[in-house]
Amino acid sequence: MSTAGQDAPVTLVTGGGSGIGAATVRLLLGRGHRVAITGRGEDRLKAFAAEAGAGDALLLFPGDASDPAAVGAAVDGTVGRFGRLDHVVANAGFSTHDDLANGDPEQWREMLLTNVLGPAVLIRAALPALRAAGGRIVLVGSTAGVKNTPGNFYSVTKFAVSALAENARVLVTGSGVGVTLVSPGRVESPFWDSRGSGGAPDGPIMTSENVAESIVWALAQPAGVEVNSVVLRPSGQVH
Ligand SMILES: NC(=O)c1ccc[n+]([C@@H]2O[C@H](COP(=O)([O-])OP(=O)(O)OC[C@H]3O[C@@H](n4cnc5c(N)ncnc54)[C@H](OP(=O)(O)O)[C@@H]3O)[C@@H](O)[C@H]2O)c1
Repeated sequence: MSTAGQDAPVTLVTGGGSGIGAATVRLLLGRGHRVAITGRGEDRLKAFAAEAGAGDALLLFPGDASDPAAVGAAVDGTVGRFGRLDHVVANAGFSTHDDLANGDPEQWREMLLTNVLGPAVLIRAALPALRAAGGRIVLVGSTAGVKNTPGNFYSVTKFAVSALAENARVLVTGSGVGVTLVSPGRVESPFWDSRGSGGAPDGPIMTSENVAESIVWALAQPAGVEVNSVVLRPSGQVH
């Protein structure tokens, strides 16, 4: 059952049914936000909603983050139901876990659309409501968007997310909308399930909750202050 009031902040999280997105949603709900989430897998969203037990404080919008119509419907549906939109978290994304020498270009196409076009489409759809609210945009990049690794097209998409964060910031900052790029290192999540050898590589790794804390901290900055970039790695991760 919802405990959020009618004036509680409203946040839309893409890919909010698992991993970093789901951890962020749990934190936000715990702080009294009303939240909307997207994802392609409707069953995954429903299972998460049942587990979160947030009642009418959590809206589900199954759909593809790179589809402008689906993203527009999620934004409009959120504003229609909750009356406002204060924050968006462009979190949906994935890696093909391959390299330029051996990967499948069709999978790269889908990854490029999800990881790069998706956040751009979200910003475009949400801007009128965010401007009205003086809201915030968080883009989930990656340390793969800070340092190159060999032949990694995922890394190319995350460099593009880093660029998108800065060019969105200079577009909107005068209108009172803040932009934050959160660039995590390795995180234990379903992100690694599609990796051929199974699971995350050996080495230091964070939890989704560790990253969610930074996202929510960025959203909670006082009016007039914006954190523009957070890079966080598990201690011991070199690149
Ligand atoms: N895990 C890491 O080590 C790591 C490190 C740095 C950055 N990141 C980034 O963090 C973000 C979240 O990843 P995660 O680690 O939390 O992995 P995750 O659990 O796999 O979360 C990704 C979420 O995005 C959704 N998604 C994927 N493609 C989508 C699409 N086209 N349209 C709508 N939703 C889509 C997935 O749901 P559906 O499949 O049901 O659509 C899933 O809920 C991603 O942008 C990822 O690149 C992850």
